[in-house]
Amino acid sequence: MPRLPSRLWLMAAALPVGVALVVMALAAPRPARHAEADWEAGRALFIRNCVTCHGPDGRGDTVEGKRLAIVDLTARVPKRSDDDLRNTIQNGAMGMRGYDFTESEMTRLLGFLRTMGDIGAGYAVFAQNCLTCHGPDGKAQTTKGLANKAADLTMAIPRRTDAQLRTVIESGKELMPAWKALLSEKQRAQVVRYIKTLPPPRTPPQ
Ligand code: HEC
Ligand code: HEC
Repeated sequence: MPRLPSRLWLMAAALPVGVALVVMALAAPRPARHAEADWEAGRALFIRNCVTCHGPDGRGDTVEGKRLAIVDLTARVPKRSDDDLRNTIQNGAMGMRGYDFTESEMTRLLGFLRTMGDIGAGYAVFAQNCLTCHGPDGKAQTTKGLANKAADLTMAIPRRTDAQLRTVIESGKELMPAWKALLSEKQRAQVVRYIKTLPPPRTPPQ
């Protein structure tokens, strides 16, 4: 089999080129998408590691959270510095183990923790203004949702940027009214944070 080794050499030689291409692709400027991707990555880390106790919006409204009489992170986090939070997450606390995150994971997680209150606030906006059509799970299977041919948000959202979501909510679409005059800019931003969490992550059965 004289050809096999040479092919391996070829692959070995191509590897740095591949790595260089990936590095170049990662370094390419795409600021808006990048901030969103960081937020999504932070949220994914939170859901994977913290949601059982702290709940999807940090308020600890889960079986485990209630058992531990856990702190409401949305109230606690704004009072803590990044260094404090980093310390707790790395070293753990009463009833919470420590986590060994990389520096970039920690940065994304902290970024998510700092905006987590928006999810709860966004839910209040959603419940009051959007739920009748888009339904509690975003799938628009409510009577009013079906009558108005509302969008299944769980299908639509992964294909949109935050900016596109803000625009469609601001301007309205088909039978959906424009929310620009009805909701403040802050409320619109908060509701975008919330709908991006649809469908709500399931907490493990009790
Ligand atoms: C097994 C349940 C559990 C898990 C999982 C868990 N925590 Fe905790 N966490 C707690 C408890 C209990 C406290 C309250 C400790 C205290 O202050 O008395 C706490 C407190 C905190 C605090 C507040 C500390 C302060 O300033 O008072 C932060 C921040 C925090 N957790 C973040 C996280 C993050 C981020 C994750 C995931 C990486 C996580 N926790 C996973 C149980 C948990
Ligand atoms: C009267 C029913 C109704 C209400 C109330 C409503 N929507 Fe909609 N929504 C719709 C309809 C209809 C569409 C357009 C469906 C389509 O694209 O054909 C839509 C589309 C959307 C889309 C765009 C989906 C896509 O394809 O990009 C978003 C995002 C959205 N709605 C969010 C909201 C938010 C946030 C609220 C509350 C502030 C809300 N909607 C309230 C009916 C409604």
